[in-house]
Amino acid sequence: MDFKGRVALITGAGSRQGIGREIALFLAKNGADVVVADYNLEGAKEVSEEVRSFGRKAIAVQVDVANSASVDGMVDSALNEFGKVDILVNSAGITQPVKVIDTPEADWDRIIAVNLKGTFLCSKAVLKSMMKQNYGRIVNLSSVSAKRGGGVYGGAHYSAAKAGVLGFAKALAREVAEYGITVNSVCPGMIETNIRKNSAALGVDPINFKNAELPTEVEQAIIASVPVGRLGYAIEVAETVAFLASDGAAYITGEDIDINGGSHMD
Ligand SMILES: NC(=O)c1ccc[n+]([C@@H]2O[C@H](COP(=O)([O-])OP(=O)(O)OC[C@H]3O[C@@H](n4cnc5c(N)ncnc54)[C@H](O)[C@@H]3O)[C@@H](O)[C@H]2O)c1
Repeated sequence: MDFKGRVALITGAGSRQGIGREIALFLAKNGADVVVADYNLEGAKEVSEEVRSFGRKAIAVQVDVANSASVDGMVDSALNEFGKVDILVNSAGITQPVKVIDTPEADWDRIIAVNLKGTFLCSKAVLKSMMKQNYGRIVNLSSVSAKRGGGVYGGAHYSAAKAGVLGFAKALAREVAEYGITVNSVCPGMIETNIRKNSAALGVDPINFKNAELPTEVEQAIIASVPVGRLGYAIEVAETVAFLASDGAAYITGEDIDINGGSHMD
């Protein structure tokens, strides 16, 4: 995969062990310049330094993907610096493993706003530039939760948001195919990142965030249910996202790819 000359904007890329960071680094290693966007500006700055260590250009941008003014500012920064956005990866996300009966309305709203509305706002904001150049790749981070329901992976609000992302991607894929823009999603199973701790610190009421640290026995039970016999690594998600973001994936759109070690097959 060769991303030389491509500009990638990756949201949620400022998390030290996160999927977005791994995607930023993989694309940079393969030639892309990167806009590292995150709510956490310090984290975004660290990752943009890592991108530069591969000889690529990078800027760090603070963004709240749930806020349209903030998202427009992020895309303006990208266009001012690089003149275009070829690849958008919607990786910013938060989860909250909580039962419906215990879910406050405000937490429902925030989970939907970051995971679903954020995907809409960021996609909308890059479309004009992608349509003008008749080229674009949009890849969304959905989740196995979209297909199998929540449980330890996140509550019903998270499942609903991630399922919404799949429907959104298919509809947008139809709208923009004629402009050379593809829109796809990946559905990871449980990947070793700090999403639970990060989510507890961001946006959702920590009081309602049960088990930010997953109990060992729960983790063992999850692993036992994965045919491959382990949790996934962020780099394994990054490689699939990179493929969907590559020129070679031009005839794949509206698709979603499971990355879950066989824990859910459809
Ligand atoms: N880790 C998993 O097991 C898993 C499984 C399936 C799907 N996913 C999805 O993958 C994506 C990346 O998750 P991760 O595991 O790397 O989590 P992470 O917490 O390591 O990274 C997510 C990043 O998103 C940022 N973020 C949160 N809210 C934001 C906002 N409003 N605006 C901008 N940035 C914001 C956080 O600061 C964080 O840096 C998420 O969309 C998540 O739902 C993760």
